[in-house]
Amino acid sequence: MRIPFIAGNWKMFKTRAEAQAFAEEFKQLYKDTDVKTAICAPYTDLATLVEIFKDTKIGVGAQNVHFEEEGAFTGEISVGMLQDIGVDYCIVGHSERRQYFAETDETVNKKTKKLLANDIVPIVCVGECLEEREAGKAKEVVETQLRNGLVAISNEDAIKIVVAYEPVWAIGTGKTATPEQAEEMCEFIRDVLTDIFGEDVADEIVIQYGGSVKPANATEIMNMTNIDGALVGGASLKPQDFVNIIDF
Ligand code: PGA
Repeated sequence: MRIPFIAGNWKMFKTRAEAQAFAEEFKQLYKDTDVKTAICAPYTDLATLVEIFKDTKIGVGAQNVHFEEEGAFTGEISVGMLQDIGVDYCIVGHSERRQYFAETDETVNKKTKKLLANDIVPIVCVGECLEEREAGKAKEVVETQLRNGLVAISNEDAIKIVVAYEPVWAIGTGKTATPEQAEEMCEFIRDVLTDIFGEDVADEIVIQYGGSVKPANATEIMNMTNIDGALVGGASLKPQDFVNIIDF
């Protein structure tokens, strides 16, 4: 049985004081449910969130990590540093990182393996851009991202991964994929995962949809068979909106 998992992605928003104010309000509004939840925040907010959420079931995630243990990599953050703070999750391969920061399927693979080896759950993002969808290449693009991003990962580890399907044309645009479009791709993702890891493992892997998820559309998206959760950008910045999405 896959447990629904709804994660927020704050991107480059919120100072420490803003994160603290959010967390205190969110903690009050949050009702303990069967839905797993986490906030993926900027590095500078992580310790604040871990501290405030320590006696709750609300998880904390980072939005990126370096794949090396440590070393001369100015500006980077290691898995050990995230572990030390008490981070539970880390987004890998978000389309904004692929687009603006030269993230490739190869670095996604290295980061994913490093996180798994250190007990942090990777949220691996895949998704096509508008041009690719219009050219009829959406599935091909997503399949390549999955196969290359998840190469040489054991079945035992694969079960722990979260895959987030985020069509680039639906991110921050207010343009959501229809629930049917999202389901069609998430079903395809599960087929590819089945081919890589076998049915038993693929059946356990949580697949999120992301792209303009908000309280008004969360229910219909979450009702789809192969969609087990959501990765929420803009609507995760306001405690009440995010709670309403978790309460779908
Ligand atoms: P959005 O972002 O919900 O603001 O569209 C989603 C994401 O980029 O993870």
